[in-house]
Amino acid sequence: MEITREKVFTDLVCVTNLGQISPEEELKFAETLGKVQKPENERQLELHKQFKGELPGIVHVTEGGLFGHKKVLDWHANKPSDPNRCSMVWIYAVKGSEGSITSWIDNKKAYEDLPDEIKAHCHNVEFTCGFKVGGYTDDPTFKEHHNKDNVHKLVYTNEYGQKGLFFPFLQIMEGIPKTLYDYLKAHILQDKYRYDHHWKDGDLVVSEQWLTIHKRHTFEKMNERLMHRIAIW
Ligand SMILES: [Fe+2]
Repeated sequence: MEITREKVFTDLVCVTNLGQISPEEELKFAETLGKVQKPENERQLELHKQFKGELPGIVHVTEGGLFGHKKVLDWHANKPSDPNRCSMVWIYAVKGSEGSITSWIDNKKAYEDLPDEIKAHCHNVEFTCGFKVGGYTDDPTFKEHHNKDNVHKLVYTNEYGQKGLFFPFLQIMEGIPKTLYDYLKAHILQDKYRYDHHWKDGDLVVSEQWLTIHKRHTFEKMNERLMHRIAIW
């Protein structure tokens, strides 16, 4: 298998076709990339059962599972306000994925293209994050929060030295001047920074969660579609 931790942190979005593999094999492979997030307390175990994860570490994204709604799941990254957030998200299409599209934005490339004075401005900006209802989802299981203790730098360098914008703009992002926020939002949303993945069953996409954000487009057949999601540190 050609996906490695270094590749994920360098290429930012890694796509391959695994074909049909067992959840045990899937988890074993995911564990070669880093530590897999597993339910650690009673509440997380409860969520695990509720989301019908078949093996601890694998969460089901489907109707009745995590983000099972048909409506768009707009631009986001994994848990921006959590100081212990995972750096990678694994999504494997088990079944019913045909016709479903997920897009990623490369905020390394978008950063590199910025004029020098904007880059310099970005380097001085820090912010805190939180979740607001109606930002990227109105899923009622997600509660509003704002973690003012976890301060992020807008220009982030990941563990393999890739530098770009950490900019999950549909979250609460307190600390970024409005004019800069509006400028960056319009800049990163240009088509040239976006990759659209048209899913086929057996596909795997592993994405770095600092320098990319992603969006699942509206999909009517969420009841037939099953994705496995694994969060990896
Ligand atoms: Fe996501």
